[in-house]
Amino acid sequence: MAIVPLSLTFAILLSTAVAAFHSTAAIDYGESTISDIQSYFADGSLTSRQLVSFYLTRIQSLNPYLRAVIEVNPDALSDADIADRQRLSGSLLSRGILHGIPILLKDNIATRDRLNTTAGSFALLGSVVQRNAGVAGRLRSAGAIILGKASLSEWANFRTDHAPNGWCARSGQGKNPYVASADPCGSSSGSAISAAAGMAVAALGTETDGSIICPASANSVVGIKPTVGLTSRAGVIPVSPRQDTVGPMARTVADAVAVLEAIVGYDERDAEATAAAAWFVPEGGYRQFLKVEGLKGKREKGAILLDNLEIANASLILDWDNSGEKVALLAEFKLAVNAYLSELVTSPVRSLSDLIAFNNEHKIQEQIQEYGQTSFLEAEKTNGLEAKVRAAIKRMAELSANGIERLMKENKLDAVVTPDYSFTPVLAINGYPGISVPAGYGEFGVPFGICFGGLKGSEPTLIEIAYAFEQATKARKPPLLISAGDLGCMHCGD
Ligand SMILES: *[C@@H]1O[C@H](CO)[C@@H](O)[C@H](O)[C@H]1NC(C)=O
Ligand SMILES: *[C@@H]1O[C@H](CO)[C@@H](O)[C@H](O)[C@H]1NC(C)=O
Repeated sequence: MAIVPLSLTFAILLSTAVAAFHSTAAIDYGESTISDIQSYFADGSLTSRQLVSFYLTRIQSLNPYLRAVIEVNPDALSDADIADRQRLSGSLLSRGILHGIPILLKDNIATRDRLNTTAGSFALLGSVVQRNAGVAGRLRSAGAIILGKASLSEWANFRTDHAPNGWCARSGQGKNPYVASADPCGSSSGSAISAAAGMAVAALGTETDGSIICPASANSVVGIKPTVGLTSRAGVIPVSPRQDTVGPMARTVADAVAVLEAIVGYDERDAEATAAAAWFVPEGGYRQFLKVEGLKGKREKGAILLDNLEIANASLILDWDNSGEKVALLAEFKLAVNAYLSELVTSPVRSLSDLIAFNNEHKIQEQIQEYGQTSFLEAEKTNGLEAKVRAAIKRMAELSANGIERLMKENKLDAVVTPDYSFTPVLAINGYPGISVPAGYGEFGVPFGICFGGLKGSEPTLIEIAYAFEQATKARKPPLLISAGDLGCMHCGD
């Protein structure tokens, strides 16, 4: 890793942390993996309550700088107590890999509890959802502890074209934990930052186009963007049901895969997409593909590298204004967000036009003068899935059929490898999966990732490749502010 220039912010953090180092006996779980933690649970050296306390302390000390977490769950410690009792009583549930493990959810993933679900906006504060999002329900059923809600580019970056990545009204500007001045990317910025900085074991993010892959790359964590429909979008504040997907972000491929395994599958509240993708889920789950030899025989980097392949019409696919993606997303967003808002039990806003009015009435709170609400205004002007929208959707399907589908089939490729997030529209416009893995640190120590993408349902292959790449390179380093200073225990009571 290149030398990271210590900004003022990090210098302050570091000295406070060093001062606190001797006064706290706490062990640093900020870099622990799920399998480490499960072995501590099993040998009795750690309880879920202690682990949750560790992360709550870490959030308290780092979040004033990193702004990766909007709310912590007031019931996280009592949920941990329940998990600890289940483990002591030897319940079957407690043998699950995620049992007792604290996980953050991006703030567009609904929970029916004391946490708010707001997409980072004050407009949804106080709204009440009918039930947990499908993925949140699955995590809870697996015994995971919902630690809180992670920050994001507000409205998953669909309010405006003019706000910085990682900014939302409710928590301010999320920061890249490696280099304070670097772009944290988005829109799942808080999920990536918190996983990177050890503020949770893992987090869920969402992606419509680039929102998992890009922040994973920028903050040096693993991000899995599943095939659309592999994970339920029910209860997720939507952008486009055609492109939205929910996936894990974590420090290692194995941890991300363990979370993926828990959240995939059919959900009657997202029936069409999850039924279509359900048959991709392999018997025995995804962890069987964590094989060090996973690159063997693969026709791509590390095995057989075919360079200079071109996707037909690539420049058009990457051109948001002309590919059809912009036209489609604007219309789909209005329909989908109106449906989400109308189903809330209570809410200060019930439609996109209410949201626009709210922002106009709360200009200062939502920083409307600086950042605007250009996407909201453009979306509001759309008229459903009219002819030009349907044509745009058809064009994207054709571009994909003639592009990545043909390229991969004709060349018998296992995966397409691209640096960073340059490739995300190719994966986004027709629902393909991708995995971003930390690959190194560039100028000033700014992280970058490598993205493995493939056809629908190719997660097993992508996991094999991503895991083998990670094990061969071990490129990820924890951000300096963490490794140098243990907890940074500025507000710890004990
Ligand atoms: C949710 O928002 C309400 C304000 O409407 C606030 O009082 C409450 O503390 C928030 N919940 C959490 C867990 O922060
Ligand atoms: C590329 O785009 C052009 C213009 O939309 C279209 O005529 C052509 O069929 C496309 N090629 C492929 C391979 O999709």
